Amino acid sequence: MIEVAGLRIVLPPSVVAVDGVDLAIQPGEFVVILGRSGAGKTTFLRALNRLVEPTAGSVRVAGRAVTGAGAAELRAARRQIGMIFQQFNLVRRASVLDNVLAGRLGYVAPLPSLVGRVPPADRALALECLGRVGLGHLAGRRADTLSGGEQQRVAIARALAQAPSVILADEPTASLDPALTTEIMGILKAINVERRLTLVVSQHQLETALAYATRIVGFRRGRVGFDGPPSAVTPAVVDAIYGGEEGNPPRVPLDKRDNKEAK
Ligand SMILES: Nc1ncnc2c1ncn2[C@@H]1O[C@H](COP(=O)(O)OP(=O)(O)OP(=O)(O)O)[C@@H](O)[C@H]1O
Ligand SMILES: [Mg+2]
Repeated sequence: MIEVAGLRIVLPPSVVAVDGVDLAIQPGEFVVILGRSGAGKTTFLRALNRLVEPTAGSVRVAGRAVTGAGAAELRAARRQIGMIFQQFNLVRRASVLDNVLAGRLGYVAPLPSLVGRVPPADRALALECLGRVGLGHLAGRRADTLSGGEQQRVAIARALAQAPSVILADEPTASLDPALTTEIMGILKAINVERRLTLVVSQHQLETALAYATRIVGFRRGRVGFDGPPSAVTPAVVDAIYGGEEGNPPRVPLDKRDNKEAK
């Protein structure tokens, strides 16, 4: 479903954010990307739909070339890729339903409303996606009147309305409290199982990652340092992903850390 080969991304002036990543992700996998701050998780995810331009290497998603694609080809590839962000990225002044329809139409909702100007089938699908995240009753509300957890559910509905093959989520729960983290990850997991959608999600919380992923990919300094099932994530693996560097402390629970770090 996702094929990444020799991916390298150098950001200006000369930061090597992704340093030679090869990764093949099969349909229906729920991959969680772990890594310290600055390890390259966001840059990697954004490269999968070319929101960041790779310096070298190739990306294919659902059989389509992302790298090297012309404008029309890239649009077609992006239609298969739903994206969810930490800050939700809704059009704040538009209605919930318009935000979801925007996903359906592949562009950001302009004001005034899209409702009434889209085919009934699109509207029905958008409402169904809202229902899937439990927010059918809020279709007419302005997006900026919703709580954070609700906004992220709208963002999930928007991604679903695209009928994508893949959903990418960059720290989708980092702005939410623990109860909402469980709720959002639970919705993503249910979608993954029901629709066999392929998910690639970056996460800071190790325990959350282990609870939902079918596969963990640990990034370290732009490279894949670990790739395996949650059951293979031992304390030594955690240390290999997070440990041994000065600077930002790892944002993982202390009880999961090697003792030398906790002291
Ligand atoms: N726009 C940019 N210009 C230059 N360097 C950047 C840019 N964005 C990120 N970087 C650098 O690229 C490296 C990887 O950053 P990235 O944001 O991908 O890490 P991350 O793993 O997502 O971190 P976090 O956990 O803090 O979100 C870092 O060294 C960062 O400083
Ligand atoms: Mg990031």
